[in-house]
Amino acid sequence: MSLALLTERKLKRIYKVLKGTLFTLTGKGNAWSGKYWDEHFYTDQIGDAQTISAQKSWLSAMHHYSSTENLIYRDFFNHGVATPFKNFLDIGSGAGHWIDFYRGIGAEQVTAIEVSEKCVAHLAEKYRDDPARPRLFCGTALEVIKNEDLGGDFDLVSSIGVFFHIVDDAELAECLNLIYEKMVPGGTLVAGGNFNHWPMNINTQIKDGRILNKRLRSRYWWTRKLKKAGFKNIRIHRNLTYAFIKDRTPENSILVCEK
Ligand SMILES: C[S@@+](CC[C@H](N)C(=O)[O-])C[C@H]1O[C@@H](n2cnc3c(N)ncnc32)[C@H](O)[C@@H]1O
Repeated sequence: MSLALLTERKLKRIYKVLKGTLFTLTGKGNAWSGKYWDEHFYTDQIGDAQTISAQKSWLSAMHHYSSTENLIYRDFFNHGVATPFKNFLDIGSGAGHWIDFYRGIGAEQVTAIEVSEKCVAHLAEKYRDDPARPRLFCGTALEVIKNEDLGGDFDLVSSIGVFFHIVDDAELAECLNLIYEKMVPGGTLVAGGNFNHWPMNINTQIKDGRILNKRLRSRYWWTRKLKKAGFKNIRIHRNLTYAFIKDRTPENSILVCEK
């Protein structure tokens, strides 16, 4: 792995943060709404790689996913997180990668929330003949958690590569409060995304110059909101894997905390 590649990837990331800061300060872009995910994002088939982007290489996507999995294994082992989980809530399931991952480490009952109708149809088909098929809910995280009867005894809630797509800070903060209420004491929350030291929350992806669909929050914001909701033992594991492959993949660092 050449130093040149690492330097190039890091410089691109710094450029992205600076560009995002400018977008934010100038108020560029309007929050995505309605059928954005089905009409503008999932324009090809549904699969793990396509949750990153339509033409993403499978190899590069798996390089990214496995790096995120490793951080979760490491955290759960080092912090004695008790697996298997009895009741797991996955938020923003996409093609179901994380449903399969957590079931692989023993998650029993699964509930999935997804705003994309195409993804929900894909998941319904994928698990159609599965005796332990997940309960599927279509809608935004906030709509579903607030309005549907999900029960209140999740011992694991995970949302990887999703919270930064909830671009309204108040909406995300409300989600975190409601998630806390739906968990059993000692339950684990795993969030995948960016938890940077940059001192402000920044809007980084403005599709077609107008649709805002990604907002990265500072680790100060995350820590404050999670503590306010009641979470404790907050741990953040940086994922630098994106810097070692000649492709654009998400960062998806991992934040783990407990109720
Ligand atoms: C980058 S993909 C990640 C999918 C999956 N978690 C994974 O890692 O494979 C983001 C997913 O979150 C969904 N999503 C975005 N905003 C959402 C929201 N507010 N509520 C529920 N799902 C949402 C999108 O439809 C999309 O499938």
